[in-house]
Amino acid sequence: MKGVVLAGGLGTRLRPLTAVTNKHLLPVYDQPMIYYPIQTLVNAGITDIMIVTGGNSAGDFLKLLGNGKAFGLKHLNYTYQEGEGGIAEALSLVEHFASDDPVCVVLGDNIIEGNIRSAVRAYRHQGGGAKIILKKVSDPERFGVPELDGRSVVRIEEKPELPRSEYAVIGIYMYDAGVYEIIRTLKPSGRGELEITDVNNAYIESDEMSWEELTGWWTDAGTFESLLRASNLVAETGANKLEMKHGAEVTTQA
Ligand code: G1P
Repeated sequence: MKGVVLAGGLGTRLRPLTAVTNKHLLPVYDQPMIYYPIQTLVNAGITDIMIVTGGNSAGDFLKLLGNGKAFGLKHLNYTYQEGEGGIAEALSLVEHFASDDPVCVVLGDNIIEGNIRSAVRAYRHQGGGAKIILKKVSDPERFGVPELDGRSVVRIEEKPELPRSEYAVIGIYMYDAGVYEIIRTLKPSGRGELEITDVNNAYIESDEMSWEELTGWWTDAGTFESLLRASNLVAETGANKLEMKHGAEVTTQA
């Protein structure tokens, strides 16, 4: 399984912090934001990683991360996304890197308290298709929101006015090599981007989607409020813990 960290975009919701630098290089407590999603992958045993960047200061990722020594890696791969085509478009750029391998994709501004080891293990046993990770939140309308029927996801709505559940689809996704064919069929959404929610809905429609619920906190860091919350959470409890208070397994099989 290969790992992908999506760290492009213009970070418009964080201007002027992102006027001259990339959102994912901003500090979250004591580390640059992008350290956290890379550590999430490494903690799950995924060491063949590609960073997709773009926008401002793309060259600074190489200066900051090099070959990934800070994470115990021997090598890191990089690619560049031109413009603001969205998460799914950024993912399409890793096709040549991943080839037929499945990928675990982490959005560069998503930070978790625990780890996704058991979710990755469960996905490996699934033998194809996709997996998403859900987390109960107080403001689901900010995210992709699943409509659930018992244990199955019926569909996902992107930033719905009237959320059909209290869950957010967090920015950690697992896909088989069929994902690139799906992305080629997508049309830009209202915000002019190829949406990851449309990718996920395609897997739901073909009955190839599973989900897990994350234990421990999760936050994005793409707005002033969530960036501050991310720093506070990391300062208070730490992020990317390998073991959690309530046992080693952080996610529960759904
Ligand atoms: C993106 C996804 C959304 C997901 C969120 C997680 O939103 O589109 O479905 O819930 O990441 O952070 P964005 O940050 O692009 O608004």
